[in-house]
Amino acid sequence: MENIAAVVLAAGEGTRMHSNRPKVLQEVTFKPMIDWVLDAVEKAEIRKICVVAGFAHEQLEAHLNGRCEIAIQKEQLGTGHAVKSATDFLREKAPQDTIVLCGDAPFISADDLLGACETHRAQGNAVTILSARVHYPHGYGRVLRDGTQTVQRIVEEKDADDMQRRINEVNSGAYCFRTSLLLEALDALQNTNVQKEYYLTDVVEILTENGKKAGTYLLADPTDMSGANDRRQLATLNTLAKKRILEKLYHIGVEIVDEVGVVIGPEVRIGRDTRILPGTILRGKTTIGSGCVIGPNTLLEDCTVEDDAVINASQARQVEIGAGVTIGPFCNLRPGTKLADKVHVGDFVEVKNSIVGQGTKLPHLSYIGDADVGAGTNFGCGCVTANYDGKKKYRTKVGDHAFIGCHTNLIAPVTVGDNAFTAAGSTVTKPVPDGALAVERAKQTNLDGWVRRKHPERFTDEK
Ligand code: UD1
Ligand code: CA
Repeated sequence: MENIAAVVLAAGEGTRMHSNRPKVLQEVTFKPMIDWVLDAVEKAEIRKICVVAGFAHEQLEAHLNGRCEIAIQKEQLGTGHAVKSATDFLREKAPQDTIVLCGDAPFISADDLLGACETHRAQGNAVTILSARVHYPHGYGRVLRDGTQTVQRIVEEKDADDMQRRINEVNSGAYCFRTSLLLEALDALQNTNVQKEYYLTDVVEILTENGKKAGTYLLADPTDMSGANDRRQLATLNTLAKKRILEKLYHIGVEIVDEVGVVIGPEVRIGRDTRILPGTILRGKTTIGSGCVIGPNTLLEDCTVEDDAVINASQARQVEIGAGVTIGPFCNLRPGTKLADKVHVGDFVEVKNSIVGQGTKLPHLSYIGDADVGAGTNFGCGCVTANYDGKKKYRTKVGDHAFIGCHTNLIAPVTVGDNAFTAAGSTVTKPVPDGALAVERAKQTNLDGWVRRKHPERFTDEK
């Protein structure tokens, strides 16, 4: 959308969250509320964005990390005062229209932002309120209209009389303003109300009193304006988000055996016929192919998983998992790991920052870190790449079709060639050429009769 800016209000502490974080950094399905809002704004192709930060603003700035502009509201004197803190931004960018949004209402959609702006421009409004009709308007500002149904002003719950409280069209807290008129009206704002705050909602009355036009854009789904002021409401938002996300997944053919303990982030993509078992958490930008089985009790963050993979009771972060790979139970796959197709990683295995070739097997109790492993190689039980000498990390290279015997230590930097073997229990410090067997261990000695000499008591029953 052209010639438009967005101001996102996010200065409030959210006292009732009882948190050290600014309220808008509280998460819904593991995504901070402010990110939901900014994603919608960006999806609507609104490119000039300013977040108004206040309480713990350093944390918010660090999180936003240059994604948009930031205005600081030093004291939280109300939503009108908050928008006023973004005056410099609005004067500099001088967009024709400005959308104002709450950073603690994560479900506002790009479609509604665009729809509201279109209505706003088509009707030539000075302000268009994104409103909703609800059964239970408690806590929201009410939209007041005159005898001809023309919008006059918004009255806050706390300032409303009994008649006004019965109105069920409420203010979502999002608006589209003609920027020049908004800036003028902000200068005229006063705080003569029950809460002694500068209400942004009073801008509507200032505009209509001056003969400007106010209108509404009715949200089709009132839950889109839901916000959270405390932990219980945040949990409700999580429940709502989960329901919506799972609904979409069912629609494209994902199987969720039991929803209990399944939490899936809004950016996760899953293919058809993939089965999600209880206790599975999928977060970040995780993408899963079709025909996979994920869970039970599995956590994937920012992973890609190709078709037909099985991940059982394991965790992976920033890992690429090929088609037909089988993992678990009880694996920890750490960032930078890439498993080619048909790799098998068995129980109690940790893999970190390693490339593992097609069909290679790491079946039990191993640590593979900073390694490049070829295809068709087999690791015995309990193998370790010793990648760290206390100062630096080094890589281990293992070729194709190698056979690493049980309990081999590979002391990096070290190379094991194609088709090379290591004998069980060897500590390998030197390169192993292609096709060679590396044996590094003392020859076995048997001391005959040693136990009888050392522990005669063990033999007292003998006749
Ligand atoms: C506001 C509206 C109300 C609407 C409701 C929808 C006003 C006066 N009222 O009320 O009509 O129905 O939203 O949820 O605007 N904020 C700041 N600085 C401040 C105060 C607030 O940045 O000084 C931010 C908060 O962080 C929050 C947003 O503005 O993200 C809304 O503030 P909040 O105090 O929750 O407003 P409500 O009382 O809910
Ligand atoms: Ca609120």
